[in-house]
Amino acid sequence: MKILLTEKELDDGVAAMAQQIAHAYGDKPLTVIAIMTGSLILLADLIRYLEMPLRVGLIQASSYRGGTTSGQLTINETMQLDIKDRDVLIIDDIFDTGKTLREVMLRMAELKPKSLRSAVLLNKQGKQEVSMQPDFVAFNIPDEFVVGYGLDYQDHYRNLPYLACLEPQDLQSPFPL
Ligand code: IMP
Ligand code: MG
Repeated sequence: MKILLTEKELDDGVAAMAQQIAHAYGDKPLTVIAIMTGSLILLADLIRYLEMPLRVGLIQASSYRGGTTSGQLTINETMQLDIKDRDVLIIDDIFDTGKTLREVMLRMAELKPKSLRSAVLLNKQGKQEVSMQPDFVAFNIPDEFVVGYGLDYQDHYRNLPYLACLEPQDLQSPFPL
């Protein structure tokens, strides 16, 4: 595996994105809705850089079914919060084709928030299949399959503190776990 972003680089990028978010919202209360499970680490790190009154809700959107290509998207809202008339920021790990975030934004818009924006850790360049863009992006990365800092391959590697590119032999080798 090749390291793409070190722990320090990730921290700096998340801190810089938090500054942009703080600038956009000021002291206004914010409802953060994180898309599980990939944004778990980003959520924990990002919200500790934000000082406005803040609520956290979780939703689960699964499109990747144990591989590196996308499938049908399902959204689980059992840990969602009431977002009507709230300023809402959706958080996800990576903007790849963009279909996941677009679907989630459309669904959340139905719940009539006062405002709705999105923040992602990673924007994979040259992959977008939708016209929308995330409002906040910590890093633009090349088109490679990445793991770590919450991102997985077949539910593994989320615990790596850095971001790494999976190489072809990593995709083939069976897990020792
Ligand atoms: P999209 O709908 O194609 O934008 O895909 C978004 C979701 O796919 C992300 O939330 C990730 O769960 C997953 N995904 C896309 N690219 C990668 C990657 O390089 N590594 C791990 N997961 C990825
Ligand atoms: Mg995911």
